[in-house]
Formats: sequence, structure tokens, C-alpha cells
Amino acid sequence: MKDSDLVAAARSARRHARAGYSRFKVGAALETAGGVIVTGCNIENATYGLTLCAERVAAFKAISDGHRRFRRIAIVADTSAPTPPCGACRQILWEFCGDVEVVLANLRRETGRYHLKDLLPLPFDARLLE
Ligand code: THU
Repeated sequence: MKDSDLVAAARSARRHARAGYSRFKVGAALETAGGVIVTGCNIENATYGLTLCAERVAAFKAISDGHRRFRRIAIVADTSAPTPPCGACRQILWEFCGDVEVVLANLRRETGRYHLKDLLPLPFDARLLE
């Protein structure tokens, strides 16, 4: 799959964002190892703290649908600087998706590309609990 297809899916998911409090809409699209795209958008709540980021919505949807192996995630926001995943999302993506490629984009172009392991160095994960 082309990067642009995954980014297009994230842009399209962003349109469903429920971001009435921050007005900051985010879309995410996760690509499974089998080439399936699972999307997410941020969903805010009047209590603020119950807000879910787009990346976590995509990850939980994918896990709940039975997907277990992943390649990439595209994340889209309307910012000229790259919008990277927050710390909580990095931790969740590491746990459930592994060292995925992270493609950042805005509404017009790609703004950055990383490997999750570089965004979450020295992670706390299941290996420490063995
Ligand atoms: N947000 C995301 O959905 N993903 C990110 O990578 C950064 C932040 C959301 C959470 C909240 O709804 C809004 O953006 C402002 O923080």
C-alpha cells in the first residue's frame, strides 16, 4: 500500500473527530500486516479527561476486530509542524502494535516519518514482567 493511501484514510477519519472542546481534530489510520486499514479519530468528552486520541481509537478498534500484527500508522492534524502521538498513545501503540512506522501528515503533505522505537526509547513493557 502506498503511504498516500494510508494518509488519505487518516485525513478522511479526521473528519469524524468529536473535538468540540479543543477544536483540534486528529485522524489516524493503522495498517495491519495483512494490508487492512483501521481508522480512528479523537473523541472528546465534557469531563476532558475521558478524551481519547485518534491513535488509541484506531489501535483499540483494530485489536477488538482481531488484528494482531501491524506495519504503519498515519496520523493527520491540521498543523504545519508535525503532530506526533502523545506519550500515552506511544505506550499503547508499543504494547499492541510493536515497532510500527509512524507517518505524520497535515492536510496537504507528509510532515515526518519515524519508527515507534525512536519515539519511545527505553520502554516499559511486558518483557520486564517476565
Ligand atoms: N490528540 C490526538 O488525537 N492525537 C494526538 O496525537 C495529539 C492529541 C487529540 C486529543 C485531544 O482531543 C486534542 O487532540 C487536543 O489535545
